Parts: sequence; structure tokens; C-alpha cells
Amino acid sequence: MARLKTAVLISGRGSNLQALIEACAAPDFPAEIALVISNVIEASGIEHAIKAGIPVRIVPHRDFKTRAEFEAALDKILRAAGIELICLAGFMRVLTGGFVDAWNGKLVNIHPSLLPDFPGLDTHRRALEAHKRFAGCSVHFVRDEVDAGPVIVQAAVPVLPGDDEHKLAARVLTAEHKAYPLALRLVAGGRVRLSGNQIEIDGKPGPIRLNPVA
Ligand code: GAR
Repeated sequence: MARLKTAVLISGRGSNLQALIEACAAPDFPAEIALVISNVIEASGIEHAIKAGIPVRIVPHRDFKTRAEFEAALDKILRAAGIELICLAGFMRVLTGGFVDAWNGKLVNIHPSLLPDFPGLDTHRRALEAHKRFAGCSVHFVRDEVDAGPVIVQAAVPVLPGDDEHKLAARVLTAEHKAYPLALRLVAGGRVRLSGNQIEIDGKPGPIRLNPVA
């Protein structure tokens, strides 16, 4: 079986990267992680890639004068490696127009909120302040707008009495580790059709919702 050549881009801890590595270990999984790129040299997640024997490139954004130059360097590395799909997993640099358009439909991100709620930072604090009953995560195709784009998989978790940001973040992270492998399986398996802002998964309107909010 030909497996989709996937790159994972990280900036930090890399727990989602590790979840994707574990998923790709299944013999029937339709993707392989062929490359990991970090824009942060100290990112501890790099270790996960090294342990799994995956090639790593470190591309510090600070080495480039402009975003466009940074993105051109990323693009060159990704294309030279024959990458067909990019998964952003805690990659904390905003990617802009040219890059996003060039990879349209081949660039996915995980965000720790139930989009369109809470794009941007501090999602868990904002969910608590808004007295939400559910929080969660979204895996979505990236568009030229921060944390926006058609959602493939969304996983909800309850907000519980006594939650603080850390407790809620940990519960959401567990959901992220289920949602991202599922989304990668669907996309790499050719089961997701993107037309404009609409998504179909196995011929039905998306997104897939795990633990759906009743
Ligand atoms: C994850 O919670 C991910 O959803 C979030 O960063 C964390 C990375 O954790 N991403 C964003 O906030 C992007 N807007 P990880 O490095 O352990 O995967």
C-alpha cells in the first residue's frame, strides 16, 4: 500500500506528533511521517522523531528576515522531500497567504478549541471564563486566517467543576491525541473531499464529531 508522505511541523513538546507516530505504526495506516520540521531548536518534541527514526530538519524562523523567506525555505525542504501532506502539531508560527494557498487541501492543523469558538491563544482560559459546558479540539484544513478553515474532526470534552486551565488542557489534550490520528487516517485514506469551504467525509457532510455535544 502506498502511504501518503506526510510532514509534521512542531515548535514544542510534540505530544500530538507522538500520537501521529504511534498511529502510523499500524500496518494499515494510510500515511507515513517522512519528515519532522521544528522552527525551535530546543523543541523537546524533536526527541520523538529521533526515537522513531524520522528525519528532522530544524528551520529557525529567526534566521530569516521575512515570513515569506522563512516560508519559502520550508516549502523548498518539503518539496525536496516529496511531501504530500503537512500536519501542523503545535507549530506556533502563523503561515501566510502564498504558502497556505500553495498547500491548499494539503495543510492541516490541530487547534485546542471547538472552532469557531476561541481561535488564537489561551483557549482553555477563555473557555472557562465563558462558562462553556464543553471544550475540545478541532483538526482543520488551514486557510489564510488564524485557526480557521474547514473542520475535519472535532472532539468535545466536558468542562468539570473545579477545572482550571491546566486540568482542562490535559483533558483536551487526551482528545487531541484521538482526533488528530483519526483526521490523518481520513485525509490520507482519500476519504475527505474538500470543495470550497465544504467538507465531505465518506460522501457525507463533515466534520466527524467525537463525543458529540448532545
Ligand atoms: C496542542 O494543544 C495544540 O492543539 C496547540 O498546541 C499544543 C501543542 O502540544 N496548538 C495551537 O494552539 C495552535 N493554534 P504538543 O506540542 O504536545 O502537540
